Amino acid sequence: MILIAPSILSADFARIAEAVKVVEEAGADLIHVDIMDGHFVPNLTFGPQLVSSLKKKTRLPLDVHLMVDRPDAVIPWFLEAGADWISIHGEATGHLHREISVIREAGRKAGLALNPATPLHLLDDILEDLDYVLLMCVNPGRGSQKFIDASHQKIQRLRRRLREQNLATLLEIDGGVNLQNLEVLAKDGAQVFVAGNAIFNHPNPRQAVSLMKEIAGRVDAS
Ligand code: DX5
Ligand code: ZN
Repeated sequence: MILIAPSILSADFARIAEAVKVVEEAGADLIHVDIMDGHFVPNLTFGPQLVSSLKKKTRLPLDVHLMVDRPDAVIPWFLEAGADWISIHGEATGHLHREISVIREAGRKAGLALNPATPLHLLDDILEDLDYVLLMCVNPGRGSQKFIDASHQKIQRLRRRLREQNLATLLEIDGGVNLQNLEVLAKDGAQVFVAGNAIFNHPNPRQAVSLMKEIAGRVDAS
C-alpha cells in the first residue's frame, strides 16, 4: 500500500485551504503539516491553530511532523487540534517512549522521525511501539532540497528489518521526493511519500498528485 502525502510547506501560505482541496480532489491520501520551532530547525512555520482550521476543511488525515525541541510540551496542543498522525524526532527528546505512548493513548498514529545522519539503531527499543517511522531524506528545515542518495540504502535496511521482525509499521519518507525518483523509492521499500516542491511547485499540482498515484499503483501491482 502506497500513500501520497503532499506537504503544505511548499503551498502558498495565504491559500492553504485551496491547496489542500486541490490535492484532495486529485487523490492524495494524507496532508503533511510541517511544524518548525526555530530551535530544532532554523525556521518557523505553523502552530496547532492551523491544524484545527484544516481539520474543518478536509476529510484527509493530517500528518503532523513535529520538528521541535521538547515535543512533550506541544503534543497535547496538536492532539487537541485534531492531528491524526504525529511524528516526533528521535534527536529532540530523551523520553521517546513516554511521548509515543501519549500519542497512541489518544488513539492517534505515532511516528518516530530520524534525520539523515541518525542511525537506525535508535529504533532498537521502540520500533514495536510505533505506527510509522519517518526517514528524513534531506536535513529538515526547508522544502525543495536535493534528495540525499545514501537514503536509498537506509530505506532498504529499514524495510529488511521490518520484514524480518514481521512488523506492519509504515515506512514514511520525507524530503527530495519527486516524480522521477518515486518509483525507485517505492521499490526500496518506502510506503508513505511526503512531497512538497514536486507537487506545489509543479505547474499543475493536481496532475502531479495523479501522476504520483499512478506510479504508486504500478509499483503496488507489480
Ligand atoms: C523538510 C520537511 C518536509 C518538506 C519536504 O524539513 O520536513 O516535509 O516539506 O519538502 P520537499 O518535498 O520539497 O523536499
Ligand atoms: Zn516533513
